[in-house]
Amino acid sequence: MKKVAVFASGAGSNAINLFEDSQKDQMNCYKIQLLITNKENAGVIAKCKLMGIPCFLWKREHFYDSTILLEFLKNNEIDYVVLAGFLLKIPIDLIQKYPNKIINIHPSLLPKYGGKGMYGDFVHKEVLANSEKKSGITIHYVNENYDEGQIIFQKEIELNVSESLESLRSKIHQLEHQYFPAIIRKVFVEN
Ligand code: GRF
Repeated sequence: MKKVAVFASGAGSNAINLFEDSQKDQMNCYKIQLLITNKENAGVIAKCKLMGIPCFLWKREHFYDSTILLEFLKNNEIDYVVLAGFLLKIPIDLIQKYPNKIINIHPSLLPKYGGKGMYGDFVHKEVLANSEKKSGITIHYVNENYDEGQIIFQKEIELNVSESLESLRSKIHQLEHQYFPAIIRKVFVEN
């Protein structure tokens, strides 16, 4: 069974979706040991409390002191790190310690609309501004460059001419909730 740490900075709908998925696991494929957030007002904190997920606030200034972070992950026997809307860049020594063991979800069809500052609604607004005919999600390994790691999975959707920010955001979230658990399970089973 893979032991997973989830990193999240926002509302945490993907984090909670993964947690619920891991709990209905008949085959003991993975367990979410803990969640790390860098935002003291992140919505995910209250959700973790409700669900009984150990949640740790790790502010930016301490996040890059990665000796402590690595030690913490090691002490908790973490095999994989899953980023679910996590906004800080991952320190290089964490990437080196967890090669192909850090997985991110991104709300566009990478390499389009990725990179620094491209997250959440910033992505969707750009997609709409460029009158794209399709968008989608990308699940990928994390390397030292924002959103450039090896792609594991993509799923696209057609966009309507009348697509709004709200409708696009909602469609992308639905895709994420549908596919993220299944794809990380596949990775865990195959590795
Ligand atoms: C998701 O759209 C994900 O793709 C992106 O950040 C968003 C997080 O949403 N990386 P939530 O906090 O899981 O609801």
